[in-house]
Amino acid sequence: MVRSKVIAIDGPAAAGKSTIAQKVAQMLGYVYIDTGAMYRAVTLKALNQNIDVEDEETIAKMLQDTSIRLTNDKKVFLDGEDVTDAIRQPIVSQNVSAVSAHKFVRDELKRRQIEYAKTDNVVMDGRDIGTNVLPDADYKIFMTASVEVRAQRRYDENLRRNIPCDLETLKQEIQTRDELDSTRKHSPLIKAEDAIVVDTSDLTIDEVIDAIINIVKGGEK
Ligand code: CDP
Ligand code: CDP
Repeated sequence: MVRSKVIAIDGPAAAGKSTIAQKVAQMLGYVYIDTGAMYRAVTLKALNQNIDVEDEETIAKMLQDTSIRLTNDKKVFLDGEDVTDAIRQPIVSQNVSAVSAHKFVRDELKRRQIEYAKTDNVVMDGRDIGTNVLPDADYKIFMTASVEVRAQRRYDENLRRNIPCDLETLKQEIQTRDELDSTRKHSPLIKAEDAIVVDTSDLTIDEVIDAIINIVKGGEK
């Protein structure tokens, strides 16, 4: 049996992972899986149900009865409802690291992520794809950029979407989230030993796409 191909892209918040992963998937005809959107959807549901984000047991129970569907054009459906915009709200960003620190949540979403990769060639982005979810991925990229650049990009993105925000607050939120994600007990954000680092600080989106395509084509097996 031919195993499906996996390109894993991990890294801190707003490094450009999802933008680039989606385009690379399109170019290669792979399925794009935004694992951050899955953690955000779980967080949104917990908040909507007034569940304490620290309450692992209740969130675990809730998750057993939760459907999350991702489409290739970056839409996210939670129990059948389109939550593509709702999961990007600041309140979700502020609580997602707490929810994603729970072991049960990680184990369950990992199980679902592995399922995706069984049937399709995938570009999967997140925090622990190359280290934990699919450690035998064909290509592992650790995508990063300076925190100043990342905050500025999120700021510009918010302006484009008419979401009011403050650059300094965004920077602090990104730093706090990176710190929580990197220091949690279960599958923290760290570079896989065999991942290739792509620093996007001074690169345009097209230049990053080219860099990834070159890595994939260069290493074609
Ligand atoms: O897009 P952004 O970089 O802001 O974040 P995201 O990729 O949507 O991920 C949101 C959050 O989900 C992260 O800050 C992590 O807490 C969590 N996450 C995770 O723990 N593991 C993953 N594989 C993906 C996301
Ligand atoms: O998925 P992640 O949180 O890593 O980042 P993203 O949501 O793909 O990218 C954050 C923002 O940076 C988006 O608005 C992208 O258009 C922008 N970006 C950029 O300006 N230049 C790059 N080289 C990569 C992303």
